[in-house]
Amino acid sequence: MEFFEVLKRRYSVRAYKPDPISDETLKQILEAVNSAPSAGNLQAYEVVVVRDPERKQQLAKAAWGQWFIAQAPVVLVFVANPERNRFRYGKRGEELYSLQDATIACTFAHLAAVALGLGSCWIGAFNDNAVRQVIGAPQNMRPVAILPIGVPADMPEPRERRPLSDLIHEEQLRK
Ligand SMILES: Cc1cc2nc3c(=O)[nH]c(=O)nc-3n(C[C@H](O)[C@H](O)[C@H](O)COP(=O)(O)O)c2cc1C
Repeated sequence: MEFFEVLKRRYSVRAYKPDPISDETLKQILEAVNSAPSAGNLQAYEVVVVRDPERKQQLAKAAWGQWFIAQAPVVLVFVANPERNRFRYGKRGEELYSLQDATIACTFAHLAAVALGLGSCWIGAFNDNAVRQVIGAPQNMRPVAILPIGVPADMPEPRERRPLSDLIHEEQLRK
């Protein structure tokens, strides 16, 4: 699919058909993740692939009852791993770059899913510690996003955006 077509077709999918995702398709999504840029190419994040129905339920519960998460055949959890870049970038790497690395990686997965005829939804509302517990992440790693992926079973109206004239600033922020 052409890149701008992918952008046009992307939306947050909150209902999924029960169709499974093949290993090959999932691999394509994960390879897209792995091609994302990262600070110093240190890839200061981890990705947990969750397919177990019980564990998906636990993730949905950790995300304050967003039960559609458990409906998706595959759920990816993106976790910032500051240990991977602290040695080179110190506090900035730890507090900012690791979150950015995980965010960009999740964006690539979100877009790759569309290109493959699938849909996903960025989930940012969750209890960090509950998610850590579900995926076995230590306290120093921060869950950044949960991404349920599957065949879309919904088709909401496109969401409005701010006009470019409001969003974009020439040279300096408007007062
Ligand atoms: C950082 C972030 C956190 C989000 N958290 C949630 C969430 O917890 N649950 C949810 O249903 N959607 C969540 N979303 C999806 C947004 O609601 C959605 O992208 C926005 O409303 C625009 O709609 P669209 O993606 O369909 O264009 C999140 C998106 C981002 C980028």
